[in-house]
Amino acid sequence: MIELAPSILSADFARLGEQVRAASEGGASVIHVDIMDGHFVPNLTIGPPVVRSLRKITELPLDCHLMIENPDEFIPVFAEAGADWISVHQEASRHLNRSLHLVKSHDCQAGVVINPATPVDTLSEVLDIVDYVLVMSVNPGFGGQKFIPGAVHKIRQLAQIRSQRALNYRIEVDGGVALDTVGDVVRAGAEILVAGNAVFGAGDPRRNAEGLLKAATEAAMVKV
Ligand code: DX5
Ligand code: ZN
Repeated sequence: MIELAPSILSADFARLGEQVRAASEGGASVIHVDIMDGHFVPNLTIGPPVVRSLRKITELPLDCHLMIENPDEFIPVFAEAGADWISVHQEASRHLNRSLHLVKSHDCQAGVVINPATPVDTLSEVLDIVDYVLVMSVNPGFGGQKFIPGAVHKIRQLAQIRSQRALNYRIEVDGGVALDTVGDVVRAGAEILVAGNAVFGAGDPRRNAEGLLKAATEAAMVKV
C-alpha cells in the first residue's frame, strides 16, 4: 500500500494545525516531522514541544526523522512527546543497533535513514531489526531541493534484498518527491512517500496531496 507522508517543514508554521488537517483530508496517512540540530545538518527546525502539539491535533502516525547527532539522547524525549515512528541516520549513530533497539523499547516503529552518498550495503546488519528504511533523495537539511536520481536504484536494491532475505521492512523515500519523480520511486518499490514542497509549497495542500497520491497509485498499478 502506498502512503503519503507530508513533511511539515514546508508548511506555514503559524497555521500548522490547519495545514496538517488539509493534507490529511487529501489522503495523507502519516505526518513526517523533520528534526534538525544545526550540527548533523546545516539547519535548525523543531523539537519535542511541536511534536507534543501535533499529537493533540492529529491521530495520524507522527514520523519523526531525526537529523541530529547523538540520537540516543533524544529518542526517549521524542517518544514521550508522541512520536509513533522514529528514524535515525546511519551516519549519525555510533551504535546503530543500540539506537534502533532504543526506539523499539519505546514502542515506536524504528527506521534507519541513508544519505545520498551512503550505500545500501552499510545496512545489511540492521535490515532484520528495522520496521522501515528511509532513502534520502536529497542531502538532508532543507525542503524544496532537487531530486537526486541515484536514490531510485537504492530503492530497487532494498526491495530485492527484502524479498531475497524474506524481511518485512517498508521502504520510504524523502526529498524532491513531486509529480515528476513520484512514478520512478514507486515503480522502484517505495511505499511511503515524503513530500514537503509538493504538498505545502504552493496552492492547496489538500488538492496537492490528492494529486500526488493519485499519481503514485497509478504508477503502482503499472509496476511489474
Ligand atoms: C530534508 C527533509 C525532508 C524535506 C523534504 O532534509 O528530510 O523531509 O522536508 O522536502 P521536499 O519534499 O520539499 O524535498
Ligand atoms: Zn525528512
